[in-house]
Amino acid sequence: MDTSLSFPPDFLWGVATASYQIEGAWNEDGKGESIWDRFAHTPGKVKNGDTGDVACDAYHRWAEDIWLMKELGLKAYRFSISWPRLLPQGRGKVNPAGLDFYSRLVDGLLEAGITPFVTLYHWDLPQALQDEGGWAARSTAEAFIEYADAVTRRLGDRVKHWITHNEPSVAALDGHFSGEHAPGVRDMAVAIQVSHHLLLSHGWAVPVIRMNCPGAEAGITLNVNWTVSASASAADRNALRREQGIWVRWYADPLYGRGYPADMVADAIAEGYLPPEGMTFVQPGDLQAIAVPTDFLGLNYYTRFIARDKDAPDNLPQTVFAPPHDSERYTETGWEVYPDGLFNILAWIYFEYQPPKIYITENGASYSDRPDAEERVRDTRRLEYLRAHFAAAQRAIQAGVPVEGYFVWSLMDNFEWAEGYSQRFGLIWVDYQTQKRIFKDSARWYQKVIAENIVAPCQALVLP
Ligand code: FCB
Repeated sequence: MDTSLSFPPDFLWGVATASYQIEGAWNEDGKGESIWDRFAHTPGKVKNGDTGDVACDAYHRWAEDIWLMKELGLKAYRFSISWPRLLPQGRGKVNPAGLDFYSRLVDGLLEAGITPFVTLYHWDLPQALQDEGGWAARSTAEAFIEYADAVTRRLGDRVKHWITHNEPSVAALDGHFSGEHAPGVRDMAVAIQVSHHLLLSHGWAVPVIRMNCPGAEAGITLNVNWTVSASASAADRNALRREQGIWVRWYADPLYGRGYPADMVADAIAEGYLPPEGMTFVQPGDLQAIAVPTDFLGLNYYTRFIARDKDAPDNLPQTVFAPPHDSERYTETGWEVYPDGLFNILAWIYFEYQPPKIYITENGASYSDRPDAEERVRDTRRLEYLRAHFAAAQRAIQAGVPVEGYFVWSLMDNFEWAEGYSQRFGLIWVDYQTQKRIFKDSARWYQKVIAENIVAPCQALVLP
């Protein structure tokens, strides 16, 4: 057997989900409204008018879902907690039914031998807090600490892995600049404030987690796709600087003690998004709080981007990287399949910021292959996507990057934010009419990878 593709013996093979994307039960048992409930209920915001009102009905079917995970041999499950299910008004009175739900879920996972990884914030802010200014207000970061305290006090005896935030850049920019996500604000100045309060709430939450959960690991998840400049021209290299700056350095730099990147702050001042004095809402001590040491960094990786300055006249003749034309090279979200980017970003992040360890907290692909007459879902492209990305992660481990776990997005098809149910990322097919779940071929293949702890070399790899 070729052992070069084997993984470390205690490698954590997992899957990931998020509360709003799977739970449904949006107004049951005392749950408060979230900004995603409000957004999805607003006509025109989500494709086909889809909502997460029912989603995968995981609020009621969690026991069956644990059984499916056990069957796959999964070692870890990353899920998020719905803040308004616990604190319907965002702060103050705790809803005991909400806490009980997650407590039962955690018990069920532990009984099945599956390690829970809990994300505190995967974008479903209580609407009551949005009404008071949402993440643009510092008071929301304070409320987050109350929430983090309530959750970790109750679950901290059993949950030993905590992720404060999922992709703060997406929460800030998609939610407050492009407005494609809840709460649908379109204002860069607001998005910048939001980013700071998200990071600040992370920094404040880590000591709370440590206090309530002795021996637990705490970290944050960033989205880091691999970006290259389209050419070596000064304009394209500047586009690359900005792209990396806005999505990665803006978060990773302050988390690792470097403060906000000076070049990006200068850009924001020049563009009028910040006053000439800069980030006036950053208070003394904030940057120290954000730079609190953590136990791991979570990375979500899906694709490669090519940064190009579309307006610069000197670029085209020099273009080195053009997007591929072959449709096979894209998933149904339109994201390029680019496994080498996972190796590159893991190496870059590790050598640049030196987190003590890394978990790949999301990676996966959207393909809509359906069950055939025998109820088999032959999602070969997802299987090949995962195989190539696992191999890239394995190469990074061999190069010395401490990757200790891998969470496939996602356990099952679910509500894909502004795309509604039109995108299917699951290892498990979900029939939204009946809530029937069917293992896709990729799930059966993943089951084997987990059992053998090895990624077999590809026989007929579709992708280069
Ligand atoms: C990530 C999100 C996750 C899922 C995937 C496809 O940005 O964290 O919830 O939607 O993309």
